[in-house]
Amino acid sequence: MAGFARAVSSSSSSLVVLLLVFLANSSLSEAREFLVGGKTNAWKTPSSEFESLNLWAQNSRFLIGDSLVWNYDGNKDSMVEVRKRDYITCNTSSPIIEHKDGNTNVKLDRSGPFYFINREEGHCDKGQKLIVVVMSAKLIWKLICVLFDIVSQINFKRFVGSSGRL
Ligand SMILES: *[C@@H]1O[C@H](CO)[C@@H](O)[C@H](O)[C@H]1NC(C)=O
Repeated sequence: MAGFARAVSSSSSSLVVLLLVFLANSSLSEAREFLVGGKTNAWKTPSSEFESLNLWAQNSRFLIGDSLVWNYDGNKDSMVEVRKRDYITCNTSSPIIEHKDGNTNVKLDRSGPFYFINREEGHCDKGQKLIVVVMSAKLIWKLICVLFDIVSQINFKRFVGSSGRL
């Protein structure tokens, strides 16, 4: 019974290690392109909070070198990158950069947050805005090491616990 428990716990920890290696690999591989919102024409005012682009962004991992692609009707919509304060207040009077080409590609060339809003009157207020936080590869490695440490400590305690009190 104890042997069975040990076998289960060691196989689940190798699963965790495999998962970590997989995550590290997929995170540190070459640059990827993300279609904003995960589908075409997702750059619009959301009809509910569940359609919010920030919800989409929170479920994705962005790394330095990745690109975001916006798909929209350039005759009606626009996309501007702004500073944090202007993102919060939906102030479009002094954007960092403005795009109106309908197929905008932005390279995420540093770690940290990027702020994007629509310049058309009222759209940002209705939620057409996006924060993307870019992780550095260093930070990802740190996270993986911390996780690995936690897993090996748990297994050490299990091992000590099951093989007589040391
Ligand atoms: C918008 O930003 C500009 C430039 O930073 C500033 O002068 C202006 O007062 C801001 N408007 C509002 C409503 O915050």
